[in-house]
Amino acid sequence: MNKIIKFNTPNKNNFSSFELKKLYNKSNYINDYYSQICVTKIAKILKTNKKILLTNSCSSSLEIAALCIKNTKKFRAKSNIIMPSYTFPSTANAFIKFGYKIKFIDINHHDLMITAESVLNAIDTNTIGLVNVYYGSHVNNPKKLLKICKENGMFFIEDSAQSFGTKIDGESIGTFGEFGCFSFHQTKNLHSGFGGALVVDKKFYNTATMILDRGTDREFIGKKGNKKKFYDWCIEGGSYMTSEFNSFFLSKELDK
Ligand SMILES: Cc1ncc(COP(=O)(O)O)c(C=O)c1O
Repeated sequence: MNKIIKFNTPNKNNFSSFELKKLYNKSNYINDYYSQICVTKIAKILKTNKKILLTNSCSSSLEIAALCIKNTKKFRAKSNIIMPSYTFPSTANAFIKFGYKIKFIDINHHDLMITAESVLNAIDTNTIGLVNVYYGSHVNNPKKLLKICKENGMFFIEDSAQSFGTKIDGESIGTFGEFGCFSFHQTKNLHSGFGGALVVDKKFYNTATMILDRGTDREFIGKKGNKKKFYDWCIEGGSYMTSEFNSFFLSKELDK
């Protein structure tokens, strides 16, 4: 008899009534205690000094990356991004919806990854970025790809949706490029129902923070050195934030 193997069984966490009461008694359900805890834990696990933003999905993290790059001088109407043709739709959606052209390249049959050679062959005068997808936690050589990107004036985006915690030579996947995008969707090893994270280079932190919150500077109001009383719409953005409920769940997952 054929045995049916389930694609995925999301992990359940046993929360104590004390933990649930702590969440229930909170007065702020966005970007607060549990989100900060998750950011600290993620930074520790990935061993990175880069900035970390929690998002509601890896799709959102990719869109923030696409919008950040769109706000640089490099972006033009004909700009293209290289990515593998074998990936999840979100990788392409994030860029196509904001006006990029996409150059798909083939993957290897044996490890499902793209190679430095195929990237080099695809680069043209309009290429401004590369998305490296670590399919099923497979890895290639992100350092070599980062070097190619630097030499050709391109941004390096890591779609690490499926590879939280994967390391190469002791360094975490998703911490090499300007943008590292992670998923905590319930189909992943660690999850929060829906969820994601963006590891972002310091130079993009302020822009990414505004894009995350509908393109506003709300996050900076009341912070040291900021005298503004009200927030403004500053940039094209989205509703990419996560909630304390998801972070509450994720925090426990990250302990594992
Ligand atoms: C390679 C890849 N990129 C992006 C995503 C999108 O992640 P999310 O479901 O968190 O938006 C997935 C989801 O499985 C994925 O596999």
